[in-house]
Amino acid sequence: PRTTPDFGVADLSLAEFGRKEITLAEHEMPGLMAMRERYAAEQPLAGARIAGSLHMTVQTAVLIETLTALGAKVRWASCNIFSTQDHAAAAVAVGDGTVDEPAGVPVFAWKGETLGEYWWCTEQILDWPGGELPTMILDDGGDATLLVHRAVEYTKAGAVPEATADTPEELRVLLATLRNNLAAQRTDWIALANAVKGVTEETTTGVHRLAEMARDGQLLFPAINVNDSVTKSKFDNKYGCRHSLIDGINRGTDVLIGGKVAVVCGYGDVGKGCAESLRGQGARVIITEIDPICALQAALDGYQVARLDEVVGYADIFVTATGCLDVISAEQMSRMKHQAIVGNIGHFDNEIDMAGLARLDGIRRTEIKPQVHTWTFADGRSIIVLSEGRLLNLGNATGHPSFVMSNSFTNQVLAQIELFTRTDDYPLGVHVLPKHLDEEVARLHLDALGVGLTELTAEQAAYLGVPVQGPYKPEAYRY
Ligand code: NAI
Repeated sequence: PRTTPDFGVADLSLAEFGRKEITLAEHEMPGLMAMRERYAAEQPLAGARIAGSLHMTVQTAVLIETLTALGAKVRWASCNIFSTQDHAAAAVAVGDGTVDEPAGVPVFAWKGETLGEYWWCTEQILDWPGGELPTMILDDGGDATLLVHRAVEYTKAGAVPEATADTPEELRVLLATLRNNLAAQRTDWIALANAVKGVTEETTTGVHRLAEMARDGQLLFPAINVNDSVTKSKFDNKYGCRHSLIDGINRGTDVLIGGKVAVVCGYGDVGKGCAESLRGQGARVIITEIDPICALQAALDGYQVARLDEVVGYADIFVTATGCLDVISAEQMSRMKHQAIVGNIGHFDNEIDMAGLARLDGIRRTEIKPQVHTWTFADGRSIIVLSEGRLLNLGNATGHPSFVMSNSFTNQVLAQIELFTRTDDYPLGVHVLPKHLDEEVARLHLDALGVGLTELTAEQAAYLGVPVQGPYKPEAYRY
């Protein structure tokens, strides 16, 4: 990749193609475009310096350019080594400029980063030129937040701990990165953490990390949990995965899904969308769950619910969607049918025991094409693993489509504005956006679909005990 002090992308000459796709995406992202129109004069993010770590796709390009249209300065990295769309990254880096004189947002992302490059890119979004410090983090999965928290912790301790045999590869590389970083003393991490007003977090797994840090008293700045806006998790996680899961399987393998037996591990928001899309293609879908409520939901939705061990030998497709670890073990993979397809759509790659698979006696890995590998066991049978166990909808396909991401990212923009302009309303802790903003995000997406929304009369509103303009539901309502 081409690397200058102020951006690192694969190929700037892809910018024109990227710009064309960004222009198409804008039409499909009415929420973000409404934000640009509504806040053009007010510039609520003027003075904000946002460090963003989120899959560098075409849709994210529209988010980035919405943040800058609202006055923010932005630096960006992807939150996954395989998820960048290089043409989108190039277009954002070029911005209003040309390939020879890029004038866009500093983007540090390319498809197929090494883990070392990944953490380097994450460092770059926090390392602002001219002695400036970021004031906001926009995170997906929490890696930028993790880097800051670890850097502060090790600065205070005066040393970076050694990795142990149990340290996952990802963290081992982060520790090495931080060791070099702290030795170079380029950044005053304590001043940086103090300058950050807060973080807005995109996904279930990142929110989980934030909740743990808040519980343990380690959280350094307030957070808004964007994931749990209804218009995020009940849309992106569900309808987004309903679209992009099978897109990834199709682009990766091109097998006919109809007639196959598919196992989806986890029946949360992501699992529900995955199961529906596989069933829509004609697969017979089996769910695994640990939560009796979700297991019962799956059963009443008409799915067989079973333990993985009971079905591992006859299913054709396996998808993990749990946010948990070690959901499919190496031993279980060794019992799968020849050419069973195994992939993960949860945030991190620890759902499938890839390290254990690599350690099996006589195992052989063959690259079919990037992000598609067969693993052949000693007895000659093989399985197909997508995106090396990392999220396959972004590794093998292009992630969620624009319209659903417009909902998620409108929440992100509102959350950034809230935290930046009303910092005092959000004390240290993990918050969700108020319900009226959640309803507003949905409202902004109705016209594009020709939805005719019924309006309450004053009498009806009084009868229900809600304002005519909403919010319509109590906080505990689950949709
Ligand atoms: P969720 O919490 O709604 O659902 C996860 C489900 O997995 C829960 O019902 C839980 O009971 C179940 N589960 C946990 N451990 C399990 C195990 N060992 N076996 C079987 N089931 C188990 O979370 P959500 O929102 O569905 O997210 C799941 C993961 O997907 C997270 O890591 C999240 O960050 C990620 N995600 C990925 C997206 C993508 O585009 N690839 C989009 C949105 C979220």
